[in-house]
Amino acid sequence: MSNASSIRCLITAGPTREFLDPVRFLSNPSTGKMGYALAEAALRLGWNVDLVSGPVSLPEPDGAILYPVVSAEEMYHQADALFDACDICIMTAAVSDFRPARCLPQKEKKSTASLTLELEPTRDILAALTERKLDQTVVGFAAETENLEANARAKLTAKNCDLIVANDLTQPGAGFAADTNTVTLFTADGSHETLGPALKTALATQIIDRLAKIRA
Ligand code: CTP
Repeated sequence: MSNASSIRCLITAGPTREFLDPVRFLSNPSTGKMGYALAEAALRLGWNVDLVSGPVSLPEPDGAILYPVVSAEEMYHQADALFDACDICIMTAAVSDFRPARCLPQKEKKSTASLTLELEPTRDILAALTERKLDQTVVGFAAETENLEANARAKLTAKNCDLIVANDLTQPGAGFAADTNTVTLFTADGSHETLGPALKTALATQIIDRLAKIRA
């Protein structure tokens, strides 16, 4: 049984940036809206919120402790430092899966630049942290364009999560940058529940309410 004011919630949000040189990077269209909406909903319940955020243009949620990061590696180190103390961990961040194999110290001139980019994988933050999961309730997100249920369930198992919130990116008004979304929640007991279409702020409240029930 947890007292609301003692619940510590770690949230990752937004995109990461993986630089090729000082002026160019690989990233994705994530705006951080879902993660920030979840932070606001958790704060409304009186939870302590650690928000590890990639670069976004959103106001800092009042009452959260914000940890700004840029790259996947920085996000990993910050989340790693906060994970053991959290009760609930929600990983909404759209972490870049690849980074350039090297980042040049000076801007590369286009006249001499190679047009082939060598990449290497970034660390899977969620999978790395859940390897040492104890009593935490861990929520992963899944961004999919096909086979939503199969892919989401595979991530639930592979990343040792209690819940996966799956986005079908092909649905109108869903996914990156939109204010609305439709999500399906898949749990380890085999059940699922679809929420929306609704504003991300409303979906965030519903997801946090379900997590509050799990921790009650
Ligand atoms: N995630 C993470 N670290 C990564 C990649 C993803 O922590 N390097 C987390 C995301 O925050 C999300 C979950 O893993 O909670 C699933 O992310 P998603 O992009 O849907 O899947 P991937 O694991 O990247 O797999 P794929 O791109 O093959 O679908």
